[in-house]
Amino acid sequence: MKDEHRGRVTKDGIRIYEQGDFAGMHKAGELAALILDEMCERVVPGASTAELDDYIRGRVEEAGAKSATIGYRGYQHASCISVNHVVCHGIPGPKTLKDGDILNIDVTVIVDGWFGDSSRMYVAGKLSRKSERLIQVTHDALMAGIEAVKPGNTFGDIGFAIQQFVESHRMSVVRDFCGHGLGRVFHAPPNVLHYGRPGTGATLEEGMFFTIEPMVNLGRAETKVLADDWTAVTRDKSLSAQFEHSIGVTATGAEIFTLSPGGLFHPTFGS
Ligand code: MF3
Ligand code: CO
Ligand code: CO
Repeated sequence: MKDEHRGRVTKDGIRIYEQGDFAGMHKAGELAALILDEMCERVVPGASTAELDDYIRGRVEEAGAKSATIGYRGYQHASCISVNHVVCHGIPGPKTLKDGDILNIDVTVIVDGWFGDSSRMYVAGKLSRKSERLIQVTHDALMAGIEAVKPGNTFGDIGFAIQQFVESHRMSVVRDFCGHGLGRVFHAPPNVLHYGRPGTGATLEEGMFFTIEPMVNLGRAETKVLADDWTAVTRDKSLSAQFEHSIGVTATGAEIFTLSPGGLFHPTFGS
């Protein structure tokens, strides 16, 4: 049977993948995670974000994979690098990192047709206490969202878990961007919101593949997109952080496709 006719699609338009498809997602996710591991030692004061992106582009090629972002809606880079008050979709460029800058690096690769999408936070030089708090809460919010993943729960349960956690620490969840289904395509239904009410939204089923990628601001949730049509920043200039995993729903919970081979997913503190 032709590939695109395998599996099925739910009434909410969400593709249900098969057992054998998990292996392809693991391979793609692992490459994205490996490249993100390799960025740890490269994020230092004085490095430009264009340099970091060049490294990523080279590694994707070397691995015989493809960057999903180069050519995506006109985007020209192998990563998004979002520094300080940039929420997401920061464009790599000649600007160099300063001591204490925090940044998200987001990489999406295509391996044998499968998409692996992940992002993490890094710090150049010394981490301030307030940045450390923001990064810790954002990381733990993603993990709280993943804990809510199991068949029978809903996407609203995931969003609620994330929102509750973030707001209990007096920080804000960005509402202008969301996670997404992925698999043999980059962005597919559903929109995975990082806020919501328990029991609402589509019901999770084994075989769904999607990202969870909460963006958390120290100040208010509002964002705006700069004139370059990509860079999203906090309107109040407050610091923003994000972590992203690609996951699959199993019979009992979630399998994370983008686990760090080096245990560096949270590079600023380990694990
Ligand atoms: N990787 C991003 C995501 O998590 C998408 C980046 S699209 C780009 O969905 F064109 F900005 F690279
Ligand atoms: Co994504
Ligand atoms: Co991403």
